[in-house]
Amino acid sequence: MESTKSKAHLVIRILQASATLLKSSPILDKSEFVKGQSLRQPSVSIVRCHPNAPSALTVRASSYADELVKTAKTVASPGRGILAMDESNATCGKRLASIGLENTEANRQAYRTLLVSAPGLGEYISGAILFEETLYQSTTDGKKMVDVLVEQNIVPGIKVDKGLVPLPGSNNESWCQGLDGLSSRTAAYYQQGARFAKWRTVVSIPNGPSALAVKEAAWGLARYAAISQDSGLVPIVEPEILLDGEHGIDRTFEVAQKVWAEVFFYLAENNVMFEGILLKPSMVTPGAECKDKATPQQVSDYTLKLLHSRIPPAVPGIMFLSGGQSEVEATLNLNAMNQSANPWHVSFSYARALQNTCLKTWGGRPENVKAAQDALLLRAKANSLAQLGKYTGDGESEEAKKGMFVKGYVY
Ligand code: 13P
Repeated sequence: MESTKSKAHLVIRILQASATLLKSSPILDKSEFVKGQSLRQPSVSIVRCHPNAPSALTVRASSYADELVKTAKTVASPGRGILAMDESNATCGKRLASIGLENTEANRQAYRTLLVSAPGLGEYISGAILFEETLYQSTTDGKKMVDVLVEQNIVPGIKVDKGLVPLPGSNNESWCQGLDGLSSRTAAYYQQGARFAKWRTVVSIPNGPSALAVKEAAWGLARYAAISQDSGLVPIVEPEILLDGEHGIDRTFEVAQKVWAEVFFYLAENNVMFEGILLKPSMVTPGAECKDKATPQQVSDYTLKLLHSRIPPAVPGIMFLSGGQSEVEATLNLNAMNQSANPWHVSFSYARALQNTCLKTWGGRPENVKAAQDALLLRAKANSLAQLGKYTGDGESEEAKKGMFVKGYVY
């Protein structure tokens, strides 16, 4: 009786697998958003399907495999990095408030229009992460934001997590929401032109981190990554180790090793294809309230040691967050990491460290748009040089040297 049941179960699993393989292709013409990208190519990987039948195999279709690899390589292209402009409406409101503007859709649209249409931005920026509102929004002169990005040779990306909430049973730590219904959202975002995704979860050193919080962060990232790849979006895997705390750089290193070990364990368990992901780590630095400060050389040594011990070379790109460092600090640290060849593209995915001077220069005034775009291009170019290991740090403004750390920062 048992064996008839398990045979029937096996047959059903094989039929399900075949049905997955036969699934019709998504809308193909949208693939043209990323230049030179091929259409959806079926490819297969084999996994065990039944715990009681070790030799039984089923087929898992990873139909976007080629496209994912191409997208990841495009984003991780020499001398370029990501502009993170995916602040939630609440966070964008804080940014606008800092220059005396109201948090209206029109003001958010005006600011994001300024960013995406900065002339020649695509020379330094390969991808832009958008908040959902922007993905579906037009610029102030009526063009789709996504179209403007694609014209600039910039791949549109989308923030897909639903933010952080308290993690019950932990030491006042958080977990990241957004898995429910994620696959329908990622499919819709792909159709709207997004080709990569971002999910930011956090780990707090002063609050632990507890084993529970690290496991939850890693598992959530891995589930999100598998779902995104299944919809043709390259997942950016971002377990941000917050800058908060008085701890030294060795403690950050120790926590980062633990976090990345767990993240890769669950990514593998979820059959995530490493060639089709991008990472967004924090650099290994002392806590923001630590009395010892680290030089770019120290940050680079610790961070590269971490990456070498945890990140497989199959991963195409490491795109750092800035996390509250000043614009210049983030650029100097990146430059230090690119003084010799790395197995991965080592680059940036900054929000604050690309936008700060730009936002202040704009101040909400139409007559300042050009100056603000120039400020953005200046930072983008500096980080492009840092990606190539050629940034000198000469001629930087005092504003760009100001730290942006905010204790307990909520993105
Ligand atoms: P910061 O560079 O301001 O840390 O932001 C990067 C980001 O996108 C966090 O998810």
